[in-house]
Amino acid sequence: MFLPAGYINKPAFINGQMENRQIILFFDKLTSVISNRRLVKLVLSSQRDRSSDLKSIIITIVEIKKGVRLNFVYRHKTNDITKNFDVEEAMAIVKKSLEEDFFNADLFSGEETLRLLITGNGKVKIRSNRTELKPVASFSHDRLKERIIATENNVYLKELGVLNSGFEVRNDMKDKYLQINNYIGLLAPFISELELPEGFHVADMGSGKGYLTFALYDYLTGTLGKTPLMTGVESKKDLVKLSNEIAKKASFTNLKFVHGTISEVALEKIDILIALHACDTATDDAIFRGIASGASLIVCAPCCHKQVRKAFHVTGALKPVTKHGILEERQAEIITDAIRALILEAHGYKTKVFEFISTEHTPKNVMIVGRKIPGKPAAMKKSLDQVRAIKELFGIEQHYLEGLCMGITNIE
Ligand SMILES: C[S@@+](CC[C@H](N)C(=O)[O-])C[C@H]1O[C@@H](n2cnc3c(N)ncnc32)[C@H](O)[C@@H]1O
Repeated sequence: MFLPAGYINKPAFINGQMENRQIILFFDKLTSVISNRRLVKLVLSSQRDRSSDLKSIIITIVEIKKGVRLNFVYRHKTNDITKNFDVEEAMAIVKKSLEEDFFNADLFSGEETLRLLITGNGKVKIRSNRTELKPVASFSHDRLKERIIATENNVYLKELGVLNSGFEVRNDMKDKYLQINNYIGLLAPFISELELPEGFHVADMGSGKGYLTFALYDYLTGTLGKTPLMTGVESKKDLVKLSNEIAKKASFTNLKFVHGTISEVALEKIDILIALHACDTATDDAIFRGIASGASLIVCAPCCHKQVRKAFHVTGALKPVTKHGILEERQAEIITDAIRALILEAHGYKTKVFEFISTEHTPKNVMIVGRKIPGKPAAMKKSLDQVRAIKELFGIEQHYLEGLCMGITNIE
């Protein structure tokens, strides 16, 4: 591209136009990695307005029947929102976001990481690092219809009753289909950050009918071209049998469902653990299995919070807070999940707790994500002191997960 010398020292944008050579080169590179399908992710961060509720935007590439789309995860303080845009719209949004909302853009491609930094007075710098990250997907499978999870010839969605015999989403299953896609959209950026070994193992604890287990396996193998082993753990025998039959029909050879309890089932080393709506302390059993196995990613959406609710012995000024059943329930939910996040942190996980976007399917929509950061020292003492202080305040003798993790001593 011909760039007159005057572009070099100009500010990033003037009246919405890209004026600086560095920023033009950055957008050229972005366009090129998108068209070559080598975009791993683009992260817009470092807010211009620190009080803004929007903390960052993570952009990955997906291909649907209509063509390539960019999947935007808008990370707000308390929830994440996902949206797909075509490439042209996406580029305009990225440009506007860099002009108005964020100072930094990190572009991860197959071969390098480019960091664009815009200063307060509009000056621009680019830093480049070679990187080991692999491109996110082989797009040879054009299997998607309008969402990340394809409907076209999708055997498991048909068998699960989400699609009719013509592979169309059934009217009464639209919410379910959206929920499945939403969930994969939320997980995608976390997965893209991981360095996973060959044949890595994914465990879905309390897999139920397996909607999300199948969709995640499909995404990992079909969209990302990875070769995981995946295990769904479920205590109901009939669901295990049904899910294994569907896995066979879908030719998902490395996906199996096993009958057993989360706490006791024998499993090989877990790299990614998910547990969605596993009841009460079953979520703690799952988190414990993940921590004990040194899983790189633990994702859970807790269900009920009975253990802590029963353990409350609140006195003094806090008493009115738990006087009303609904407030006591909400309080138990907050305390239970806050302690879960602290225990994950105690064991070297970076945590994020947020609301799923869609509340129409379930009111249980808080998600706890723990990412193991290699080399990050576990904040064992600090986190466990904070757990102790919370317990004292609410008169709780023990959080169930704490008891499970007592045996793990080799982390700090
Ligand atoms: C509410 S369903 C959620 C299913 C699925 N994860 C989803 O989000 O669609 C919870 C499932 O976990 C199973 N479950 C609960 N506790 C369990 C345990 N301790 N061990 C194994 N499965 C369990 C239940 O049988 C049920 O099928």
